Amino acid sequence: MLSNEHPALSLPQEQSLHMPIEDRPGSLCKDRSVPAPARRSSHRILLVDDESEILEGLRTMLEQAGYQLTCTTSLQVALAAITRETFHLVLTDLYLGGDDLGYRLAEAARACKPSVPVILLTGRPSFAGAHEALRSRVAEILVKPVDSSQVLTACRRTIQESELTRRNQELEAQNQVLTAVLPRAIEAKDPTTCGHAERVVHYADMLAQRCGVNREDRDSLRLASLLHDVGKIGVPDGILTKPGPLTQSERALIEQHPQKGYEILEPLSYHENVRTWVYQHHERWDGKGYPNGLAGEEVALPGRILILAEVYDALAEPRSYKAAWELPRIVGYFRDQAGRHFDPDLSHLVANGLERMGGRFFASRADQLF
Ligand SMILES: [Fe+2]
Repeated sequence: MLSNEHPALSLPQEQSLHMPIEDRPGSLCKDRSVPAPARRSSHRILLVDDESEILEGLRTMLEQAGYQLTCTTSLQVALAAITRETFHLVLTDLYLGGDDLGYRLAEAARACKPSVPVILLTGRPSFAGAHEALRSRVAEILVKPVDSSQVLTACRRTIQESELTRRNQELEAQNQVLTAVLPRAIEAKDPTTCGHAERVVHYADMLAQRCGVNREDRDSLRLASLLHDVGKIGVPDGILTKPGPLTQSERALIEQHPQKGYEILEPLSYHENVRTWVYQHHERWDGKGYPNGLAGEEVALPGRILILAEVYDALAEPRSYKAAWELPRIVGYFRDQAGRHFDPDLSHLVANGLERMGGRFFASRADQLF
């Protein structure tokens, strides 16, 4: 039983109910005798208790706190309501009369899309009950008697946590579009580059760790590595997959992809470094790269790392126009291109590491490198 000692949960005699709330005329909970709350929340709560007086006490308290309530004493009515309406929280008694248990409602709430958090009220806590509550992923169990501050705190906290979780899930879904779907779309243009972006992320991050690049720049570098060829979406497939040499006009089209990538990524307004390093990933240390012929440290260290990591993968993997290079040939290339295509320190670091350790140079932990 709820504590009737607390004024918020004790009912004046004239408000006690003589019939189930859902049997009243109108919808489930339309009694307007309760004073309107000062500040009405947009949060909707499904409140279920088979004892009408407790239900009414909770309803009064929660409405006064600003929540919008749908109330019922019946599990069946609650199950129908949760499939029909949108709620931010279910607050239900565990024992709802007969064999009806609040767990059934908890499972229905969990199955909703998005799922609805549940607070369970029980007067008979037990280990088995706690286990079942965990299994049903009940957000919180309140043991009767409870007072109004306990209930209000639990409702507020559970709704906040649920909204935070939902927001994080939305951000995660948006992030997946950026980090999983977009790279796949790029690689669909040229199947021979399958897995290229993910490998470049790994190589670049390993090198960045080795060079002491700070965490924030490493985060940006991983994203730039993943998206570095996004501008190829604007290049005709026939040119990207053409075996053999390209004509001058075909090459000019391909060389537009860093600029196109920079433009495509314009909405990433908080990631200017990502855009910049994508834009610069075909520059060279000697200034003979494109699109702007930047030289030396005009490209920041993370950008120079991306330039090298991208070429390493292009050499080590087969492409439509070439077979995969053997390791000694790659080592020779990095030695030869130190100070030409690549930052000389980086180039020697990679050449030495590959020579000494082979493919293990790009092991998953920086401290395994040497
Ligand atoms: Fe590229």
